Amino acid sequence: MLYRTLGATGLRVSVLGLGTGTRFGDPRQNSAADAARLVRAALDFGINYIDTAAIYGEAEAQLGAALAGVSRERFIIATKFWPVDAGLQPITPAELRASVNRSLQRLRVETIDVLQIHGLRPAWLGPVMDRLGPELAALREQGRYRFLGVSETIVDDSLHEMVPHAAADGRFASALIGYNPLSPWAELSALPACEQSGMGVIAMVAVGRALRDPAMLERLVREARERGEPGVADLPRKDPLGWLRDAAGGSMAAAGLRFAASHSAVATVLAGTLDVEHLRENVTAACRPPLPEEVRARVRRVFLNTDAAYWRSGDV
Ligand SMILES: NC(=O)c1ccc[n+]([C@@H]2O[C@H](COP(=O)([O-])OP(=O)(O)OC[C@H]3O[C@@H](n4cnc5c(N)ncnc54)[C@H](OP(=O)(O)O)[C@@H]3O)[C@@H](O)[C@H]2O)c1
Repeated sequence: MLYRTLGATGLRVSVLGLGTGTRFGDPRQNSAADAARLVRAALDFGINYIDTAAIYGEAEAQLGAALAGVSRERFIIATKFWPVDAGLQPITPAELRASVNRSLQRLRVETIDVLQIHGLRPAWLGPVMDRLGPELAALREQGRYRFLGVSETIVDDSLHEMVPHAAADGRFASALIGYNPLSPWAELSALPACEQSGMGVIAMVAVGRALRDPAMLERLVREARERGEPGVADLPRKDPLGWLRDAAGGSMAAAGLRFAASHSAVATVLAGTLDVEHLRENVTAACRPPLPEEVRARVRRVFLNTDAAYWRSGDV
């Protein structure tokens, strides 16, 4: 395993992190025993960065049980709280404290390493921090968490507008950012803003859906060509990203992970999986040297000349 420093936090994080955002927290798909086996395998591969959230079903509780008895130095826990209510207004300080306390209890830890504001839309940043900033400071003072982070939404912030504002705010130590070959727009402002401000970057959706689904990828490319998007004009019709997969030396999923890990701002790349063989493949891909610059440049030439919002539909 390779380890990198998560920005100014100084935390040394594995270049592949374990995500628990999809099926991990659903006990019908992932029993406690299976969750424990997967977490043990991840730790054995040297993975030490684990991402979860208060709203990922039973994921926090599954993790808490799986990590019980594991030395606290062996893992870094990043969780999240959802910052707005049903009316999209910031939650109250009391609701924030209750969410953090529940996460601590379910995770069975004394301190959360990275507490992230979940899915923060650009317009929410100001109101949420005005309402919750003092309570966040108090919770940190009381040792409930160590570092404050933001996570962006992969749904309606396709140009990554929230992260540069968070970097300018100065209170955030890390950012969880969507970044993959089909969605490289974070390179334009979000990743440079983090590098300049010392915010550590955790990449997500590196194995976006279109990278796992060849038929979907071909359809997205075909539709983009029909719409006249210039970036895709020269891509082969069949297996349009075969050149990327071949350059990365593995599957398309591996290409996504290796691509994300290639950026100098990225400390760790998350991937969720219930499959230990996928986990092994992902570790290998993330630990490989950065992709050659000409391959990364071709990715930029293609996908920065397309419609960001359209391509993000291939992420989820
Ligand atoms: N706004 C936010 O804060 C936010 C949003 C999204 C995600 N996240 C976090 O980021 C993590 C990563 O998210 P994500 O969107 O990248 O993915 P994800 O939700 O974790 O799901 C990854 C998917 O990729 C598949 N996969 C993984 N490795 C593979 C491989 N080698 N080959 C083929 N398929 C593979 C998995 O299926 P198998 O089980 O079959 O391997 C799974 O379906 C999440 O788990 C979550 O912790 C946060």
